[in-house]
Amino acid sequence: MSRILSSVVVLSALTYACQRDWDTFTHRKHQHQDATISKLHKRAKVEYPPSLTETESILLNSFDNTSISDWSYYYTHGDHLGSHNKTMAEWTAQKWRDAGFESHLVEIPIWVTYPEHSSLTLLRSDGSRHDVNLNEDVLEEDETSSYPNRIPAFHAMSGSGDVEGECVYVGFVQFHSQKDRGHGCANRHRRGTQADFKVLQDAGIELKGKIAMANYGGIYRGTKVKNAQGHGMAGCIIFTDPLDDGEITEENGYVAYPNGPARNPSSIQRGSVRFSSIYSGDPTTVGWASSVDSPRGDVSQYNPSIPSIPISMKDALPFLEALQGHGVTAKEANRSGWTGGFRNITYDSGPAPGVHVHLNHSMRGSIEPVWDVIGVINGTSSAEVVIVGNHRDAWVIGGAADPNSGSAILIELAGAFGKLLKKGWKPRRTIVLGSWDAEEFGLQGSTEWVEANLPWLTSTAVAYLNLDIGVSGPRTAFSGSGEIQMFVVEQMKKILFPEGWGEFPTLYDMWYNVSEGEILPLGSGSDYASFYQNGIGCIDIGSDGGKTDPIYHYHSNYDSYAWMARFGDPGFKLHATIGQWLSLILYHIADDVLIPWDLPHAAAVLKQYLSELKDTVAESDFPDLDISPIEYAIKEFEKQAEHISTVASQASAFNDTVLVDVVNSKYRDFSRGFASAGGLPGRETFKNVISAPGIDNGYGADVFPPVTDSLSKRDEKEAVKWVGKSAGAVLRAAEVLRVGG
Ligand SMILES: *[C@@H]1O[C@H](CO)[C@@H](O)[C@H](O)[C@H]1NC(C)=O
Ligand SMILES: *[C@@H]1O[C@H](CO)[C@@H](O)[C@H](O)[C@H]1NC(C)=O
Ligand SMILES: *[C@@H]1O[C@H](CO)[C@@H](O)[C@H](O)[C@H]1NC(C)=O
Ligand SMILES: *[C@@H]1O[C@H](CO)[C@@H](O)[C@H](O)[C@H]1NC(C)=O
Ligand SMILES: *[C@@H]1O[C@H](CO)[C@@H](O)[C@H](O)[C@H]1NC(C)=O
Ligand SMILES: *[C@@H]1O[C@H](CO)[C@@H](O)[C@H](O)[C@H]1NC(C)=O
Ligand SMILES: *[C@@H]1O[C@H](CO)[C@@H](O)[C@H](O)[C@H]1NC(C)=O
Ligand SMILES: *[C@@H]1O[C@H](CO)[C@@H](O)[C@H](O)[C@H]1NC(C)=O
Ligand SMILES: [Zn+2]
Repeated sequence: MSRILSSVVVLSALTYACQRDWDTFTHRKHQHQDATISKLHKRAKVEYPPSLTETESILLNSFDNTSISDWSYYYTHGDHLGSHNKTMAEWTAQKWRDAGFESHLVEIPIWVTYPEHSSLTLLRSDGSRHDVNLNEDVLEEDETSSYPNRIPAFHAMSGSGDVEGECVYVGFVQFHSQKDRGHGCANRHRRGTQADFKVLQDAGIELKGKIAMANYGGIYRGTKVKNAQGHGMAGCIIFTDPLDDGEITEENGYVAYPNGPARNPSSIQRGSVRFSSIYSGDPTTVGWASSVDSPRGDVSQYNPSIPSIPISMKDALPFLEALQGHGVTAKEANRSGWTGGFRNITYDSGPAPGVHVHLNHSMRGSIEPVWDVIGVINGTSSAEVVIVGNHRDAWVIGGAADPNSGSAILIELAGAFGKLLKKGWKPRRTIVLGSWDAEEFGLQGSTEWVEANLPWLTSTAVAYLNLDIGVSGPRTAFSGSGEIQMFVVEQMKKILFPEGWGEFPTLYDMWYNVSEGEILPLGSGSDYASFYQNGIGCIDIGSDGGKTDPIYHYHSNYDSYAWMARFGDPGFKLHATIGQWLSLILYHIADDVLIPWDLPHAAAVLKQYLSELKDTVAESDFPDLDISPIEYAIKEFEKQAEHISTVASQASAFNDTVLVDVVNSKYRDFSRGFASAGGLPGRETFKNVISAPGIDNGYGADVFPPVTDSLSKRDEKEAVKWVGKSAGAVLRAAEVLRVGG
């Protein structure tokens, strides 16, 4: 216990330093927390200006900021919440077709939820009331903020209920670290206790039947609701706190959107509250593809049963004021992140006598069609396929960053490859583009497509490349599988970084500045999840804002074209840059004679994860757990990786096409070994023994997750079993790599 407490002090300093990373940039921020540092990339000297092949130049030169802006404009001016907009899917298919991709729609019936009625009212002791606005303010400067069909703020997969009761502020509702090795923004929140609740319970505050008031940040929103529900609370309100915004706040003198870079106080973060660390996709068909006549299961184990609702900073203030002076004070709570960013609020827990909250929220669940768009260029060989995907559905009319910065980039990318096609080019490997629907509810469009096409993907997929928030600011973001990392980093060196964002001549320079060479493992924050969990190598790329960049109104009605054009990426040059990067990655994977993997680097990444696991074991209740089987398996993997890498160089040096084909098929297949057939304990659709979302935080990735999970559950027997199974998985991958006798 004392160890837990002592780490909290150290953590609190880090918490503030890294606050911005946590909450504003969800898709990527997951990876800024709770993840392994893999400092395997030393700063390299970059050739400037970069030299390019003729084909590379054609691809890069075909990215035009003005046409990207046009595509962005189209995507951001109509309701396209999951299942709402077939026209937009058809438009996307036509654009890809125009570029030369064979394109079609795939209609999938999935379970969706939508609010029928929501209201939230604060009832004060003096009889006065405050009715919360579940829509952002209409701004003259932001045309889509006034659309009559704009989407109210809600939590997908929330429970329903008409509940009234006292309100308790519960902080981040966060699990706290038992360890902190001082690695800055990563590695902060490993397993631990629900310490925020414990503080309240220790102070004798009854939680049962009360309504939780939690701030966004730290952990995935659905886990907050899950934790509140687990403590018998009747409902959950999650608010945006100014602490999320680091330096860029009105209190620090920055003007709020639309006239400045600070957060508009009425902005609300929508989002799904499904239990994301235990399943992806349609919760009525977990583990199989949704179709018109597929069997459908009960969703209750996968989603919260209590009602929850997101609210704005502006509407949170009266609640916090009403609790002021009651319950546990922030000082008594003594918890990192407990005191938020409202300077005159003391963040007391309440409950306050006579102060009630009335949350009346009814969600309707139904099966509705959603539309993935699939575009294909056949390769000369159909045995190897590379897939590039981005979701199309957005929480709001706009979605200029999430996800349609990515969607606009994909159209421009299709056009770039169209230029090559017109010159008679045909890739060696088949290229598949995916525009996924219904990602925001829980990765439905991509997961169901993967489930429906699994045998084909398992036998042909070389890699899946994901782009979600292509641009919400200038800071390059990248995470992904070990074998792909070096090659993806190399492509950054060929791309000039646009001016106006500091002294960064190439994309590589910007990336290195942001990451210091750190590449994090994959969790479950976007559509790569089901590919990766089935043993397909993946990357996830894009760019975010940093501490001093304009506030990105994540999942808010102000994630709009107007915001993007004025603050996020004026001139749409960052969009072009990310698109150029992705086009080189795709081009080389699809067309290089030898698939450009670096297997020795994959081994180095595994070794890094192993050292992380060693630390986890050392600090667990079972420090003597023998993980040498995994260590041995990684040694074996390393040996085969070195060997195949030598064979690969020779095969290409001697133009030995038979051997090149052998190597390529092994590069394509080896990572399937990482997928454990029966799935990870308690979550059978998560299969990758190398990394998976942390059970407790739902965003960040744990390495060797089944071992880690067993340790958290204090189940030594299961930990031993999963050391064996994880070692077996690494050995399977090593065995696939083995060339010759
Ligand atoms: C807050 O907690 C830390 C360690 O967890 C402890 O050292 C410190 O005394 C506590 N402060 C107060 C005011 O209780
Ligand atoms: C679908 O999106 C397009 C483009 O944004 C928009 O023009 C159209 O009105 C939307 N359709 C619906 C049904 O909202
Ligand atoms: C809750 O909302 C429903 C409408 O969905 C309404 O019929 C009901 O009266 C409301 N409950 C209260 C207590 O206001
Ligand atoms: C706190 O400050 C806000 C403005 O930032 C003001 O509206 C509010 O009344 C203040 N609350 C208290 C309790 O002083
Ligand atoms: C691409 O390959 C598929 C499957 O082999 C085939 O059905 C399709 O007609 C091909 N498309 C073109 C344009 O050759
Ligand atoms: C990143 O860039 C900033 C501003 O140019 C500079 O102060 C900082 O030292 C750089 N950091 C790294 C790790 O290169
Ligand atoms: C594209 O870039 C050019 C040159 O910098 C600029 O003049 C133009 O306004 C940009 N287009 C858009 C739509 O921002
Ligand atoms: C390699 O071999 C293939 C077919 O065997 C041939 O078409 C190609 O030109 C050769 N490439 C080189 C660099 O020798
Ligand atoms: Zn997204």
